[in-house]
Amino acid sequence: MSVDSGRNIILCGFMGSGKTTLGKLLAQRLGMEFVDMDDVIVRNEGMCVPEIFAQRGEAGFRDAEHKAAVQLAASRGLVLATGGGALTFARNAEALRQSGTVVFLNPGFEVCYTRIRKTDRPLVQGNTKSQLRQLYRVRTEQYRRAAHLEVRARGNKSSCVEEVVVALSRP
Ligand code: S3P
Repeated sequence: MSVDSGRNIILCGFMGSGKTTLGKLLAQRLGMEFVDMDDVIVRNEGMCVPEIFAQRGEAGFRDAEHKAAVQLAASRGLVLATGGGALTFARNAEALRQSGTVVFLNPGFEVCYTRIRKTDRPLVQGNTKSQLRQLYRVRTEQYRRAAHLEVRARGNKSSCVEEVVVALSRP
């Protein structure tokens, strides 16, 4: 698969897998535009993510997320960092897979957990470490179903970006 800047590159993976950090660097590296799906949701809804969860529950957030997924699937040339739950829903995966290449970033649960444990993400606040580990397991299968490619992305940022570029360039 070669890098086609007319198609989107969609990064999926657990919270803390590096979707936003690596997505920004990847977009710079490939001369593409970077978009964070959670930012689109926040703009659409006029509320931050924890507020959406608090006011409308997780189901309300998932509806807003689906609206953003459909909107973004109509765009081209983006490096898109999805939210950790987005590609676990078939309706979002179907829409986004058609717009480009979906890459699963999978550095492992402990790496992700270290990065997210002190953040205000609603799912981190609402779950214990072992519940999050179980969620990681379940979601790994869902990300694998949604993705065209899987990348470990555990090293330093620039080597992770190169790992993604190499994976995207593989025939
Ligand atoms: C979520 C991940 C978050 C955000 C929301 C729900 C999830 O995005 O979309 O809190 O279900 O894993 P990040 O993966 O960018 O943290």
